[in-house]
Amino acid sequence: MTREPIRHFLADDDLSSAEQREVLELAIRLKADRFAARPLAGPRSVAIIFDKPTLRTQVSFTAGISELGGYPMLVDGGLAKIGVRESAADVARVLGRQVAAIVWRTYEQSKLEEMAQHAGVPVVNALTDDYHPCQGLADLLTIAEHTGGLAPEGPALAGRSLAYVGDGANNMAHTYLLAGARAGMDVRIGAPEGYQPAAEIVTRAEAIAADSGGTVTLTTDPSDAVEQASAVVTDTWVSMGHEAQAVERETPFLPYQLNAALLGRAAPGAAVLHCLPAYRGKEITADVIDGPQSVVWDEAENRLHAQKAILTWLLR
Ligand code: NVA
Repeated sequence: MTREPIRHFLADDDLSSAEQREVLELAIRLKADRFAARPLAGPRSVAIIFDKPTLRTQVSFTAGISELGGYPMLVDGGLAKIGVRESAADVARVLGRQVAAIVWRTYEQSKLEEMAQHAGVPVVNALTDDYHPCQGLADLLTIAEHTGGLAPEGPALAGRSLAYVGDGANNMAHTYLLAGARAGMDVRIGAPEGYQPAAEIVTRAEAIAADSGGTVTLTTDPSDAVEQASAVVTDTWVSMGHEAQAVERETPFLPYQLNAALLGRAAPGAAVLHCLPAYRGKEITADVIDGPQSVVWDEAENRLHAQKAILTWLLR
């Protein structure tokens, strides 16, 4: 008998459009009935490791793993020093003998891939320099909730558009390109020269969109990006790991600030998302993030439901 290969969630496009839809449907079920799935009953442990700061991800994985019947085992990234003290491969071999899954926030995507290759259990990306796919799922769920639900069939958010303005080269922009394209959305990235998404990821997103019925648009004009969009999103101009560039990262992004004037270009009632933490007065103004179109608190809650769904799906 051949065994199903172990699945991981390392990048948004690890899920096909149909699989992404299944996970979102499961998230909707788990949000309505919080204890409907208990794949970690035992309790089985899930290792959660952070090499970068966290608030939402630690809280939502800890609560979510508990609600799935499991034990959330926080492994101190500062003590483990994966890749310095020992390789990701060796850590994977040790953890994989003892836990049901591994959740890791780190810098290089290649290290996460090395972990996945040797773990023997599902590995979930809790943010790398390249992608933040758990946030991507939570955001699709949030957009669905605020723009009329999942599409009746096919890619989950066909017919909806997502405009992201700001640092187009960061993990969130890459995630929106891939997750949004898989969901059949029109994805627009408005970012300054020098901060456009990685060409390789754009190529992947375009290929996905050709299949899902979505589109991918890159522009340096923030108004063009936002024009009639159903969801408008931004993120910090200074991602974790780029703190030394905080000053040089201010001026180029000023025209991309998500303020009332820019939001006015979007579709009436467009949903405003931000993965948080937010810097009011920088990438987003207080009146917008604290205003009636903001869905950021639903978005933060949806991390819990989306991550419970992806864990349940990977452990099925
Ligand atoms: N782009 C941000 C996302 C934070 C959740 C960062 O990497 O810091």
